[in-house]
Amino acid sequence: MFVTTKTLLDTAQKNKFAVGAFNVNDMEIVQGIVGAAMELRAPVILQISKGAREYANPLYLKKLIEAAEEESGLPIAMHLDHGPSVELCKQAVDEGYTSVMFDGSHEDFETNMKLTREVVDYAHSKGVSVEAELGQLVGSQFDEGEEGGKSGEGLYTDPDQAREFVEKTGCDSLAVAIGSSHGAFKFKGEPKIDLERLQKIRDSISIPIVLHAASSVLEEYVEMCNKYGGKIEGSKGFPEDTIARAIQIGVQKVNIDTDLRLGMTAGIRKVLFETPAEFDPRKYLGAGRDMIKEVVMHKIKLLGSDNKSQLYS
Ligand code: G3H
Ligand code: 13P
Ligand code: ZN
Repeated sequence: MFVTTKTLLDTAQKNKFAVGAFNVNDMEIVQGIVGAAMELRAPVILQISKGAREYANPLYLKKLIEAAEEESGLPIAMHLDHGPSVELCKQAVDEGYTSVMFDGSHEDFETNMKLTREVVDYAHSKGVSVEAELGQLVGSQFDEGEEGGKSGEGLYTDPDQAREFVEKTGCDSLAVAIGSSHGAFKFKGEPKIDLERLQKIRDSISIPIVLHAASSVLEEYVEMCNKYGGKIEGSKGFPEDTIARAIQIGVQKVNIDTDLRLGMTAGIRKVLFETPAEFDPRKYLGAGRDMIKEVVMHKIKLLGSDNKSQLYS
């Protein structure tokens, strides 16, 4: 059953869990994610970035997601991740996505509001929900100390601005910046996530909150990549216990891509390293798909979205 992210997240908010939003780029990733969701009876958001569209061809990704929805019968949202322009958001709406993110975080406050409003008006007229972003996902790894660094420059989400932004744009969910950044190298020293700020944002807006850049960069998978020929050094992710606390405070959508990339790469590397004579892609891509499933099952349990699919029937 295709649903909007508004449907998924409003129910998650009432029932105090979060829905995983996983980035998809190919068939193995879609199947790994949906295999995990089926086993745990979890609602799931399959999200597609501009880069994924360019890599795989939007039509192929859409058909893969339609197949996943048909096979699983699960509540699934097809979501545009980090839509960089109003035009691409409108195109995704026209293509049948049930949800789009307009990422105006690099615009000034007024421009971000104006462009987000334009996306909201178009998407809502077609029954599609809209995620917006306020603040920039520059991590606290760029901080030089209490007074310096990026967070000191006002790039994190301001709770009062968030209220005004939500009121004036009519967006359905809001992505916030509280210290994490995308990728596998989120922190130089100890992870620093501003949960007090998250609490203030939660107190000032009532719509679902989205946590981007929420991969934990699990040691286990980094070590596995390196054991089988990889060279990933200095990586650090969003601690899982902090994600659990963020969900208690009131986050309803958690975005994960890097952890899938690491898991899949670890699985593929292992097969290629241990069986160098192997050249059947199904052997190593299948191992990558198994790893995606393992990672996603772990995440679904962390977010508390297991056994929640029946809430949507
Ligand atoms: O937030 C970014 C996601 O991880 C997607 O990354 O633009 O390389 O597809 P991408
Ligand atoms: P990670 O790089 O932490 O997986 O973040 C993914 C994300 O936010 C996609 O929008
Ligand atoms: Zn993101």
